[in-house]
Parts: sequence; C-alpha cells; structure tokens
Amino acid sequence: MLIVSCDNPSSRLGTNPEEAVTFQPIDVSNLPRPLDPVLAKGQDIYIQYCGRCHQIGKAGAPRTGKKSDWSTRRRKGLDLLIKHAIEGYESPSGNEMPPRGGEKTLSDTEVAAAVKLMLHLSIGNTDQ
Ligand code: HEC
Repeated sequence: MLIVSCDNPSSRLGTNPEEAVTFQPIDVSNLPRPLDPVLAKGQDIYIQYCGRCHQIGKAGAPRTGKKSDWSTRRRKGLDLLIKHAIEGYESPSGNEMPPRGGEKTLSDTEVAAAVKLMLHLSIGNTDQ
C-alpha cells in the first residue's frame, strides 16, 4: 500500500527536505569564539581572508556550512586539503583557489587552522 501525505513538503517537491531549504550562508563573524585555540585562530583567519569567497561560494568555492559542498573534498584527507589551501588548487572545472587565499603573509599553521575551522563548521570533523 502506498501512503502519500499532502502535508509532507518532501513528497510535494520530490526532493530531500534538507536540500529543498535554500542554503543560508553562515555569518562566521557573529559566531561565538570556539574554545579550541586552533579553531579560534582559524576563525580569525577565516573572517579576515577566506570568508569573502567561501561564505557564499564565490567562483565555485565550497561553501562553509554546506556539508554537500565538502563531503567529496573531505575524502581527500585533511593533509591534502591543507596542502591545496597553502599551494593553491585548480580543479578540472577551472575554479581557482589562490595560494593562501591570496594572502602571502599567512603561515602554514594559520592556513591549516582556517581549513580546520571550515571543516568543523561544514562537516563537524577535523580529524584525519
Ligand atoms: C578568491 C576566492 C577564495 C579565497 C579568498 C579563498 N578561497 Fe579557498 N577556494 C576557492 C575556490 C574557487 C575553491 C574551489 C577550487 C576548485 O575546486 O576548483 C577553493 C577551495 C578550497 C579548499 C578545498 C581544496 C580541495 O582540495 O578541494 C580549501 C581547503 C580552501 N579553499 C581553503 C581556503 C582557506 C583556508 C582560505 C583562507 C586562507 C581560502 N580558501 C580563501 C576560492 C577562494
């Protein structure tokens, strides 16, 4: 027997309800400061140098807080994501992540902290 509920938005739209909701960019500058010092440092760096592209997905950048933007990339492993953020990265589709987000003065540790913060907010996991 097939039960169809007219009140269920997912059956009406034929989509996953999570995906049906429009993505609301995370305003990281208004989030509480993380207790973990690495994530707290990452939040400072992110607000200053990374959010301008990653908050709204400018130029094809994976959006912070949007799990599906990150789940495939996450499988590369943390080390490779950090390497790409430091050295820069261009996917076959031609979108470009500039080395260190375009800010040459950032140290490797600072870039890594920002990557961890982005993963923390998007996937909730910053382990290897
Ligand atoms: C000028 C825009 C811009 C800025 C600023 C920027 N990014 Fe990106 N970033 C991108 C784009 C575009 C991509 C997607 C590249 C692709 O897959 O083609 C990307 C991808 C990434 C990835 C995924 C790399 C991979 O291997 O899939 C990481 C991690 C990342 N950025 C971290 C950072 C960090 C950390 C900062 C700040 C220090 C930053 N980005 C600043 C545009 C930007």
